[in-house]
Amino acid sequence: MKTKRISTKMEKALNEQMTREAFQAQVYLSYASWAEVSGFAGISAFLFKHSQEERQHMFKFLEFINDRGGRAKIAAIDAPPADPKDIQDCLQKTLQHEIDNSKSIDAIVNLALEEKDWATFNFGQWFVREQIEEETLVNNLLDKYQLAARGNEKTANLYDLDRDMSAAPQDAPIPRDAKL
Ligand SMILES: [Fe+2]
Ligand SMILES: [Fe+2]
Repeated sequence: MKTKRISTKMEKALNEQMTREAFQAQVYLSYASWAEVSGFAGISAFLFKHSQEERQHMFKFLEFINDRGGRAKIAAIDAPPADPKDIQDCLQKTLQHEIDNSKSIDAIVNLALEEKDWATFNFGQWFVREQIEEETLVNNLLDKYQLAARGNEKTANLYDLDRDMSAAPQDAPIPRDAKL
């Protein structure tokens, strides 16, 4: 039994974020399955991998809460939203999920600052960085889509885009690490 080193308020916020990461995993799992049956094997492979990333995030929260003397409670996960209309919609919705998630990570870091809970503040910084990477990653994919589609979904070269995405990495360079 560990000494409790996080506030009850923080424990609740971390638990909510843990469930939120599990929800994100479900969203990408659902989009991946949709992409697979829609004939986009590459995009589907990317989304399946990304779903795994979100599950790892969930696990990091679980470990951190328990390690700091709290109790990670596994809760019900909301159902994923409806299928996207098309690939552009899929990428745009993915970006919005990531932006919303960044905001909820920011709220945890903000609470850690208010409470002078530097351990959680430090833990939260890993996720701040991760969210910069993930937003960049999805923005880059949207750029690729725009290039492939040139504003016209009907004539989009989705074959190349799909093939590229099967090999797309799960991380993206961020300005902090940039070198000339
Ligand atoms: Fe995440
Ligand atoms: Fe994410």
